[in-house]
Amino acid sequence: MSHSITKICTDFIPELNNAIAEQTAETIFVLTDENTRKLCLPALMQSEKLQGCHVISIPSGDENKNVESAVEIWKYLSENGATRKSLIINVGGGMVTDIGGFTASTFKRGLRYINVSTTLLGAVDAATGGKTGINFLGLKNEIGVFAPAETVLIHVDFFKTLNDENLRSGYAEMVKHALIDTRDEWESVLKFDLENIEFDKLKILLARSIRIKERIVEEDPFEANIRKALNLGHTFGHAFESYSYKTEKPALHGYAVMWGLLCELYLSHIKLNFPKEDLLRLKYLIKEYYGSFVFHCQQYETLFELMTHDKKNDSKEINFTLLADVGDIRINQTATKEEIFECFDFFREG
Ligand code: GLY
Repeated sequence: MSHSITKICTDFIPELNNAIAEQTAETIFVLTDENTRKLCLPALMQSEKLQGCHVISIPSGDENKNVESAVEIWKYLSENGATRKSLIINVGGGMVTDIGGFTASTFKRGLRYINVSTTLLGAVDAATGGKTGINFLGLKNEIGVFAPAETVLIHVDFFKTLNDENLRSGYAEMVKHALIDTRDEWESVLKFDLENIEFDKLKILLARSIRIKERIVEEDPFEANIRKALNLGHTFGHAFESYSYKTEKPALHGYAVMWGLLCELYLSHIKLNFPKEDLLRLKYLIKEYYGSFVFHCQQYETLFELMTHDKKNDSKEINFTLLADVGDIRINQTATKEEIFECFDFFREG
C-alpha cells in the first residue's frame, strides 16, 4: 500500500491546485457534509481547478456515516458519469473522510481521492493512514477497507470555526500520539495552553503529531503489529463512546478517548508499572478540560460487553495496547474482567 503524505498548508489554494494537478483527473467530485458545504466549500471554490466540478453533500454527524449515505454517494457518482479517471475530494472531518474514502475506493474498484481535513480530530487521525469505512448495525467502522488518500491537505484556518469542545476532542488524539512517542513530545503536548489556543503553536504540534502516526503507518499499514499502538485509549474509549450514544449526551470521540486513556494508563500502571506521576498528570488534565463520564457499578457489565465486541480483538479476549513507560509500547496485552472493573473503579473515584 502506498502512503499519502499529509501537508499542512501555508498557502491553501496553490497547494490544493498542485494536489489536483498531480492527479490529472477527467472529472472531479467534491464531497462535503452540510456544515463543510456552508463553511469550507466557498474557500475551496476559489480554486480554478474546481470550476465546474460536481458537489455531493451528505447530512453531517457520525450517525449518518452509514450505508444509506454511502448508497447516495455511489448513486450520485454513477448518475454523473464518474469513471476510474475521476477524482474525489473529501472536505470535512473524520466522518466525511471515512465515508468518502470508503465510497471512492469501492466505486468501480477504486477511484483516487484527496482528503481536505477541516477538523483537528480528523487532521490528527482519520484523514491519514488509509483506514476508511462506515458504521453498521450499531458498530463503528464495521464495514471498510484500507485505502489511502493520494494526498491529505490541512488548512488550519478551517479549525478557527471549531468550538472548544471540538478542538479538545482533536487534542486528545495528540495526547495519545505523544504518549506512544517520547517523553519530550508528552511534555510539549502537556504544555500546550487549552485555555488560549494559539493556532501557530498548534500547527507545529500538529505537524509532529501527524508525523508520529505516519511513521507507524509506514511500518505497519494493515495493523498487524505496531499500528496497534494507535489504539491506545480506544478499547475503553470506544465502549464509553458507544454507551454514551444510548444516553441523552453522546460523547465526542476525543473525550471518550481521553477517558479511555486514563483507564488504560491505570491498567498499564497495575500491570506494567507505568509511572504513577504520568498517570496523575493525565488525570488532572482530564479533570480540568474533559470532565467525567458518569456511570455506576450496574453499568460495568454493559461496558465490558461493549469492549468484547471491539474489532481489535483477535479472539474472545479483549486486546489492549498498554505502556510500560511513555513511549514504551506493549501491544497485544490482555486483562482479566476483575482488572477491567478495577479500572472502572479508579476512573469513577475522580
Ligand atoms: N485511528 C487509528 C489508526 O488509524 O490506526
